[in-house]
Amino acid sequence: MKILVTGGAGFIGSHTVIELQNAGHEPVILDNLYNASPKVIGRIEAITGKKVPFYEADIRDREALNRVFDAEKPDAVIHFAGLKAVGESVHKPWEYYDNNITGTLTLLDVMRKHNCRNIIFSSSATVYGDPAFVPITEECPKGTCTNPYGWTKWMLEQILTDMHTADPEWNVILLRYFNPIGAHPSGTMGENPNGIPNNLMPYITQVAVGKLEKLHVFGNDYDTPDGTGVRDYIHVVDLAKGHVCALKKLAPGSGVSIYNLGTGHGYSVLDIVHNFEEATGKKIPYVIDPRRAGDIATCYCSAEKAQKELGWTAQYGIREMCEDSWRWQSMNPNGYDD
Ligand code: NAD
Ligand code: UD1
Repeated sequence: MKILVTGGAGFIGSHTVIELQNAGHEPVILDNLYNASPKVIGRIEAITGKKVPFYEADIRDREALNRVFDAEKPDAVIHFAGLKAVGESVHKPWEYYDNNITGTLTLLDVMRKHNCRNIIFSSSATVYGDPAFVPITEECPKGTCTNPYGWTKWMLEQILTDMHTADPEWNVILLRYFNPIGAHPSGTMGENPNGIPNNLMPYITQVAVGKLEKLHVFGNDYDTPDGTGVRDYIHVVDLAKGHVCALKKLAPGSGVSIYNLGTGHGYSVLDIVHNFEEATGKKIPYVIDPRRAGDIATCYCSAEKAQKELGWTAQYGIREMCEDSWRWQSMNPNGYDD
């Protein structure tokens, strides 16, 4: 299939493009490079040995989208493009709603005008809020988000569902990612955060490489085995493969489907520190700080539905996630900016 991958130069998108090419699909990347480097394209091509068409464009730019759809005639869209920094979204709500909501509305309108009604959307475990129960199944009610980023995911799930209700020709898959970490095993592609990382694994790897002094653990008084927050970390390559499996489900009449993509295992912050130290031989000094506003104690999924219906299960364990994150960081201390 010809797949338009919005945000395809970003962290998860670029790994997904590789898996799409490996599976014989024809991905086309559209990205405005707001949070990505153009070097990613060459790295993808070096790994797969296949060319990938790339359009530098914004999903809010209707004319640019029209040109891409006219030229490429995609069968489906995998929609990663969006802003994703939780803290920043609290200070720049307009920018987040404009980019994520206006951008997606423009994309959906161009899609339907080009008779393309197949979409896989990057949603997040954040839509569960403080989850009603764990392990979280897809039936767990959506919760209250604590920031505009989370609300954009919450609202876009609703918008996509309403599009299908009004026009059943839309086939929609909502993938709720848990905590993607790791990097391509080649060490040539990975996560490339701007400035000081907000998320745990990039912070740890930057401590390990000597760019940051020590990890700040946000709270050790949660109701968890060691008091630190528990999350469901998933290797980005497994996550990417989940999209290839989901594509098979995008058949006419398939409607709206929701899948959690996680491993089903919860690890605490200190579990991650210890696993990272064992996998890499690097010591991670840390201090305990107060809780971070908006954080929850425990979040991990049941991944059974994706296994049953998509035939997908995560293959990589926490050790490979740590090894691959470290290989990428140590081979590319400044990300793609070398
Ligand atoms: P990323 O920032 O690396 O990738 C997003 C890409 O979209 C970037 O390359 C950026 O340049 C591009 N982009 C942003 N706005 C755009 C626009 N208006 N037009 C065109 N391109 C645009 O982020 P990621 O970690 O790869 O996340 C991909 C998607 O998955 C996002 O929608 C994110 O919200 C979602 N998600 C990510 C995580 C995570 O922890 N990484 C968890 C859950 C969901
Ligand atoms: C974050 C986002 C969430 C998104 C998810 C997907 C926030 C508040 N939430 O969730 O919307 O869906 O990523 O990946 O950013 N931690 C530390 N020290 C650090 C960084 C993190 O102790 O320097 C702890 C956190 O308190 C948490 C765990 O590590 O317990 C994971 O944090 P993080 O990587 O930021 O992910 P989430 O908070 O789960």
